Amino acid sequence: MIVAFRCDATQGQSDMSQVFQRVGVIGAGAMGRGIAQMVAQAGCQVSIYDSAPAACEAARQGILAQWSRMSSKGKCSADQEQAWGQNLSIAASINDMAGCDLIIEAIVERLDVKREVFAQVEQCVSADCVLATNTSSLSVTAIAATLKHPERVAGYHFFNPVPLMRLVEVIPGLKTNSQVCERLTQLTKDMGHTPVSAQDTPGFIVNHAGRGYGTEALRIISESVSDFATVDRILRDQAGFRLGPFELMDLTALDVSHPVMESVYHQYFEEPRYRPSVITAQRLAGGLLGKKVGEGFYNYADGVVQTPPEADAPTPAMMPPVWVSPKAARRPELYQLLKDLGADIETGQAPSERALILVAPLGMDVTTLAAVERLDPTRVLGIDLLIPDAATRRRVLATNPATRADMRDAAHALFARDGKAVSVIKDSGGFVTQRVLATIVNIASDICQQSICTPQDLDLAVSLGLGYPKGPLAWGDELGPTNILETLFNLQTVYGDPRYRPSPWLRRRGALGLSLKHQEI
Ligand SMILES: NC(=O)c1ccc[n+]([C@@H]2O[C@H](COP(=O)([O-])OP(=O)(O)OC[C@H]3O[C@@H](n4cnc5c(N)ncnc54)[C@H](O)[C@@H]3O)[C@@H](O)[C@H]2O)c1
Repeated sequence: MIVAFRCDATQGQSDMSQVFQRVGVIGAGAMGRGIAQMVAQAGCQVSIYDSAPAACEAARQGILAQWSRMSSKGKCSADQEQAWGQNLSIAASINDMAGCDLIIEAIVERLDVKREVFAQVEQCVSADCVLATNTSSLSVTAIAATLKHPERVAGYHFFNPVPLMRLVEVIPGLKTNSQVCERLTQLTKDMGHTPVSAQDTPGFIVNHAGRGYGTEALRIISESVSDFATVDRILRDQAGFRLGPFELMDLTALDVSHPVMESVYHQYFEEPRYRPSVITAQRLAGGLLGKKVGEGFYNYADGVVQTPPEADAPTPAMMPPVWVSPKAARRPELYQLLKDLGADIETGQAPSERALILVAPLGMDVTTLAAVERLDPTRVLGIDLLIPDAATRRRVLATNPATRADMRDAAHALFARDGKAVSVIKDSGGFVTQRVLATIVNIASDICQQSICTPQDLDLAVSLGLGYPKGPLAWGDELGPTNILETLFNLQTVYGDPRYRPSPWLRRRGALGLSLKHQEI
């Protein structure tokens, strides 16, 4: 039977109240090192083992140096630094970990090697020792399947760098004893990290919920809607992401991020929502991996990103009057904005022959609206108003294939009059922000539909693990589930792609006017 002990996080001293007394960490690379540090700080005795002996000593030295920096900055006391140091040791072999009550593996991401190492562990540890895997893409159930006691195996997924990324996914395999996860959850809290519970499914929560951002941005540039730097600017300035998707891919490096895109897609048996892009496959093959090699979507000179310059707003000789489609989203706000910008607004039933014509669709493309509303397409542009204008730092306009250059320039100049940044893109059902946000909210909704985690854990995990400005479900609620639904239905119409089909979770909550966080009884 597994007994739940409590752990005193702040003292760094072992005592019998701890949830685990002695912890073995196998694999002393980037992750193992961080995990060992945090477990030692939680007051457990930690021994590190790695098949490359030099890796253990390097990890130990690295952790001691980290504590020394913390101590000199006043982030821990000298007593704590000393106590944590006493908690840390190196194991010469797996057999030296026989007395541990928890083993965490953070070795190479291969099913055969992880199974082999745990089989070795099982031969030396006691019957109630918990085995945790830090795998990010393998099935916990599959890792446990060949062991004598699969009920003591759980996924324990940390994020890099472990001390700074304060989220841990705790994942039961199909046979895992619930007390195993309860104890790992408590240890996570004792480290000062935030635990979330996830079902054993490809990508768990974070690497699953994160599929929408990069893949939709890649689809947008693959359609020549705009260039990657403009898409990054739009998603930073209009949607509030800290990093644009292409900046993020450059930072993560394509040899890490492209295989994850392929892995989740294939593990879900080619689910179109997660479909990767030939763009990253080709760039990976060509070695344009990102910042670490000096060349990715952006170029880097001595590590400094070279951002392509943004064109100034044009200065047209004449400014035409403006007519707004009666079907425009946020129509009263758009009129107020035009008024504030000093536009000559036409209020007739139809535009005059000189007017610039504005549509503001959700998910639909500008071309379709111009055709359906029988508008002169040469004078029609779209504006993305899914997010209220006052909440953004950039406005996004879209032309259609027939738009005249003078109308495009007039619209650009008009919306830049108050100094706000403006991007003009080619026609795209859902512009940039609508497409990306609707995809993110839809995938998050489907994670809840599949009961992979609770809606609360979903938003928590995405905010902490991916650093998005808002949890996807809270974001969907704020923008309006029916607006997200309309965007997705129209995207499906424009592209005919099942990628955009709305999750039943979103459809039902949208239809009933419920919050996306609402969990049925
Ligand atoms: N790096 C990340 O961002 C990240 C995030 C979450 C999870 N993970 C997962 O954590 C695990 C480790 O990743 P990492 O980035 O720390 O890798 P890493 O390459 O930095 O370190 C792996 C270490 O494991 C050792 N090792 C390999 N085979 C071994 C064996 N049979 N026995 C003992 N030691 C062995 C290696 O010598 C190496 O020191 C992987 O499963 C990975 O998927 C990584």
